[in-house]
Amino acid sequence: MRNQNHKLSYQNALAQVTERAKSAATIRIADLFGNEPGRMQALCVDAAGLSLDLSKQRIRLQDLSALLGFAQACGFQAQRDAMLRGDPVNTTENRAAAHTALRRPVTDTLVVDGCNLMPMVADSLHKMREFSRQIRDARRSGSDGRKITDVLNIGIGGSQLGPLLACQALREHASDGPDVHFLANIDPGSWQALRARLDPRTTLVIVASKSWRTAETTRNADAVRQWLLESGIATTELPRHLVGITAHPERARASGLADDSIFPFWDWVGGRFSLWSAIGLPLMLAIGPDAFDQMLDGARAMDEHFAGAAPERNAPLLLALTTLWNRLALPGASEAVIPYCDALSRLPAYLQQLQMESNGKSVDMDGHPVALPTIPVIWGEAGTDAQHSFFQALHQGTAVHPVEFVIAVPAQPDAQRRDYALVANALAQAEALMRGRDLDTSRAELIASGVDESRAAALAAHRVHPGNRPSTTILLGELTPYSFGALIALYEHKTAALGWLWRINSFDQWGVELGKQLADRMEACLLGDASPPSDMDPSTASLLQRLREMLAKR
Ligand code: F6P
Repeated sequence: MRNQNHKLSYQNALAQVTERAKSAATIRIADLFGNEPGRMQALCVDAAGLSLDLSKQRIRLQDLSALLGFAQACGFQAQRDAMLRGDPVNTTENRAAAHTALRRPVTDTLVVDGCNLMPMVADSLHKMREFSRQIRDARRSGSDGRKITDVLNIGIGGSQLGPLLACQALREHASDGPDVHFLANIDPGSWQALRARLDPRTTLVIVASKSWRTAETTRNADAVRQWLLESGIATTELPRHLVGITAHPERARASGLADDSIFPFWDWVGGRFSLWSAIGLPLMLAIGPDAFDQMLDGARAMDEHFAGAAPERNAPLLLALTTLWNRLALPGASEAVIPYCDALSRLPAYLQQLQMESNGKSVDMDGHPVALPTIPVIWGEAGTDAQHSFFQALHQGTAVHPVEFVIAVPAQPDAQRRDYALVANALAQAEALMRGRDLDTSRAELIASGVDESRAAALAAHRVHPGNRPSTTILLGELTPYSFGALIALYEHKTAALGWLWRINSFDQWGVELGKQLADRMEACLLGDASPPSDMDPSTASLLQRLREMLAKR
């Protein structure tokens, strides 16, 4: 009976939200500020030092109530608590998604499968800190005694995107550390370009792979290992230049690494949630253990907010509900993320994996088709650059794409006041998207600028901005390790919350497997001279044949 009631309330809440979303096209966002006293209070929340403003979304306060009712019907609070408690919420892999343990006080206790995770977390952090300090102050040097000046991280997906984003975002804090480079793509050109800039004797190579089986990483690692050996570094000296990070230490050992050179993490840390684990080692090397700890502090503050804030003040949940709403109100729309901060220019790429690999699913937890459209395409570039490429389409194109503006205040005052210009541009773009400019105003502005009436009438339509285009603004304050940690944890929790609202498993990624399998078969076909397999379609078979010839001709 209880189950039946629960089902009914879920169906009810879902019907309410979908019904309301159908009328969203009639909403004029700008009018809502006057019509809805309390709008700013309801749609602006602070969390872990960040401020989130959702008031420029095409969401009425009654829609918000319906959305919150839906979150309740989905069991948001119970699901959140289960994740934070370390329950096996990743059901298809029967695993916990306990990445928040990585930023809990190590004196806490978190028991998963009968084992307290916190001592493992403490040991791992200790090992990372010691190693980073030794490299940074040259107590641990390269094989010829020279200081390590460069770190090369070989890894892809979650074993690259987080550390890469973080190293760029926090580069101001990296003055005493080595330069960090990233090798992800299996494209041989990537390594060729990098190797020209590196001296093997002063380079530390980190092979980062949760599975220790990812083809791009193992094959790049083989090439780089070869480079180290060819430079004259003896096999016995390799540990000074090569370490591994993995959740499968036994596989790393089998490939020749000693325990000392292996930084472990665990299957309860998803790849795209792993920045805080040993996967963050290149970042710790760059910015030092203290700044790394500040990043963990920022993430922990966001975890505490997520765990404790009421649903209506819960920033990750509100962000998730906004995406869910826009999927219904604007079918087919994508979601642009525009950081107004060059140091965060890789944020969109990071969020693509976090959100699209997590929530790009079509079946629910029970394997049935999902009831709602899941994650949209996430994309973006840093502002103001983006204003001079695709913002034209965001303002005047026929499709409406919601935008998330992420604004960081530059740390140093600028003599030319470009810092003021940067944030002014972010605010102006959000305002322009919402406010728009109608035909009469366009014509009047042309006439006021000296254009004659008939020309103004002809040109005015081209200057119309339809407006009423929704956006969210996230104010970061200064970009510091702390605010960065809080920002990334905000998005991690948004991602998990969306999974619960959509009733999907955000923690697996079966959709990447088929392509990997076919790539192995394809490579074997390209290398051999047998005819393509009989089950291959004519298009693929013909392209395969042409590429085989092109490759052979070189
Ligand atoms: O693309 C699939 C994927 O498994 C991601 O989920 C993961 O982050 C990436 O590949 C790299 O995997 P690994 O760390 O095991 O090499």
